[in-house]
Amino acid sequence: MTRPLNILAFAGSTRNESLNKKLAVLASETAETAGAVHVTWADLRDYPIPLYDGDYEEQFGLPPAALKLRSLLQSHDALLIASPEYNGFPSPLLKNTLDWLSRPFNNEERHVVFKDKPVLLLAATRGEAGGRRGLAQLRLLLGNLKAASFEQEFVLPKGNEALDALGRLRDPDQQRQLADVVTAFVGHVRERQSVTA
Ligand SMILES: Cc1cc2nc3c(=O)[nH]c(=O)nc-3n(C[C@H](O)[C@H](O)[C@H](O)COP(=O)(O)O)c2cc1C
Repeated sequence: MTRPLNILAFAGSTRNESLNKKLAVLASETAETAGAVHVTWADLRDYPIPLYDGDYEEQFGLPPAALKLRSLLQSHDALLIASPEYNGFPSPLLKNTLDWLSRPFNNEERHVVFKDKPVLLLAATRGEAGGRRGLAQLRLLLGNLKAASFEQEFVLPKGNEALDALGRLRDPDQQRQLADVVTAFVGHVRERQSVTA
């Protein structure tokens, strides 16, 4: 029997009403309904990581919350990120989190936590574009970290109208699109695992 896949999910926003948090949670639930998938939700508000500072790193090493997130990432098969778009880029919170996670720790090889890690990219914005420009930048960044970003992505324009009070997508076509992308990602991760097993 195949063991359940473990996916770590987080959003690049700490806002209570964050559209990206809602989208990440929705995608996580969708992944779990695909069967034999367990998603660990990490709210970055619970992982307060200071702005990257080389002097801090030299003196203290990785901040405790970055270490916690790092070991979570290492113990999961795949990653799901919902990224806000700020002026065409991922949020500073997300960039800072990924930068800290990319730092060497003990004697481990650099980028070890991201190397070949499958990542599903999602984005939600209030505006019309849905965050695709930001995802293009995030893809570049993850490529530099040697992660394996999944080709398909899901973007949600006008997220504040598209999601209802329970955080569900109102439009059945969008529900289907999200389910298709998430299901394809789960299948892709499983396939990679059976190849590398
Ligand atoms: C500094 C800043 C820059 C923004 N730039 C963009 C942008 O380039 N494209 C866009 O669609 N929305 C942009 N927005 C609006 C965000 O998409 C919107 O605030 C979104 O709700 C943020 O994500 P969250 O709901 O997950 O916190 C920007 C918001 C801020 C605060």
